[in-house]
Amino acid sequence: MAQQNAEFVVVANRLPVDLEKLPDGTERWKRSPGGLVTALEPMLRSREGAWVGWPGLADADAEPFVEDGLALHPVRLSAQEVEDYYEGFSNGTLWPLYHDVVAPPAFHRHWWQAYVTVNKRFAEAVAQVAAPGATVWIQDYQLQLLPAELRALRPDLRIGFFLHIPFPPTELFQQLPWRKEIVEGLLGADLVGFHTPGGVRNFRWLATRFTDAKPGARNEVHYGERTVKLGAFPISIDSAHLDELSRTAEVQQRAKEIRNDLGNPERIILGVDRLDYTKGIDVRLRAFEELLQEDHAGDAVMIQLATPSRERVEHYQTMRAGIEQSVGRINGTFARVGHPVLHYLHQSLPRDELAAFFVAADVMLVTPLRDGMNLVAKEYVACRGDLGGVLVLSEFAGAAIELKESVLVNPHDTDGVKNALHRALTMPPEESRKRMRALRRQVLSHDVDRWARSFLDALGLPS
Ligand code: ADP
Ligand code: F6P
Repeated sequence: MAQQNAEFVVVANRLPVDLEKLPDGTERWKRSPGGLVTALEPMLRSREGAWVGWPGLADADAEPFVEDGLALHPVRLSAQEVEDYYEGFSNGTLWPLYHDVVAPPAFHRHWWQAYVTVNKRFAEAVAQVAAPGATVWIQDYQLQLLPAELRALRPDLRIGFFLHIPFPPTELFQQLPWRKEIVEGLLGADLVGFHTPGGVRNFRWLATRFTDAKPGARNEVHYGERTVKLGAFPISIDSAHLDELSRTAEVQQRAKEIRNDLGNPERIILGVDRLDYTKGIDVRLRAFEELLQEDHAGDAVMIQLATPSRERVEHYQTMRAGIEQSVGRINGTFARVGHPVLHYLHQSLPRDELAAFFVAADVMLVTPLRDGMNLVAKEYVACRGDLGGVLVLSEFAGAAIELKESVLVNPHDTDGVKNALHRALTMPPEESRKRMRALRRQVLSHDVDRWARSFLDALGLPS
């Protein structure tokens, strides 16, 4: 049995690194995808904590290990559990349900059973790692039963939970056959955090509707003997670090090379996402295509960088096929030999390379149909110390609450997105600089450290 010696433990479905099997049978660790890791890794490294999570491969028997001062504790999932708990209940039920049912969620009892089993396993793993009285910070929708499971095993722990995706409107949440169990699971925490005040309100209402919880002060519910705190904590990025990285001679030089490689177009439009149907990649391709058809795109070239994601889940396969077809059609119609109008990379890029793309881009298109926060929007702003560039941002991203000086769009309105793109491409520099200055003030003063500190302060963690 592992020693119960970690004073501060983060638990997430994934470890910050994924185990990868290479074709020659050897294995290596690589950075995990997604915003959660981007946000939490720097914070946890500075606190010398432990991280409990799945190593990203089915049936992987990885031993606990220390990486760069961070103690990593892998939790094993069988191939069937990956299918039912991760691809099934987490990403086939909860993900679409919590993202405004932009794809239809599926409700399967065997998926739910696997979700229960895996959440219990995580509880056992954390119970073995956490020191007496330790603070445990549970992350995201894959582990919503864990707060209560863990409290049952270890009532001595201080438990926080943060949801990285939107918490849905109450009418949608109520579709879930296991709504009561999920709410009870979350109420096992001392503090439940969301990105927005809307999430707090919805959860508070549901807690009093489906459990014995009684409303307390505005951001509290009383549940049995305990008071559970609720709060809105908009997540962010390591802004100063990214700002610094983007100013290095290497990144600046690489940004010039990218523009040069593209044939020095007048304007570069950029999209950067996990390849997910919530991100509205199809929306922005349609807007760009229509601008080209109308001859209003000028000499613009678009780049779409897309990290491979959840490739065995059906909605993701359908969406990828649709996007790749659009890319082919757009280039087929508008490219010249040696000059594609649209560059699509289905790859995950290193951080410094990504920063160079942000520096090179004149217009950043972030058009999710629904997104908890969207860190890409903040990363773009952090990389624009030159005050160049225009951010076009969906009203349905959590980031829109803070990044008000972006060009806000409704991603369901193709004409609106097209007009916003045109406006961004032709915006006078005085206006775009003014907007970017205001955006940077927000992003640089509200970084991920501030987010983590405000959550942990509310949880009562002594600093
Ligand atoms: P999500 O958590 O849903 O993936 P976010 O926008 O909050 O969405 O976070 C995505 C993170 O993944 C960001 O840190 C972004 O820089 C990173 N990312 C997205 N696409 C790529 C890519 N093609 N290569 C490298 N990193 C990427
Ligand atoms: O919050 C979004 C999120 O689902 C994280 O929980 C996750 O780490 C990231 O996106 C990437 O998704 P996945 O782990 O399913 O590849």
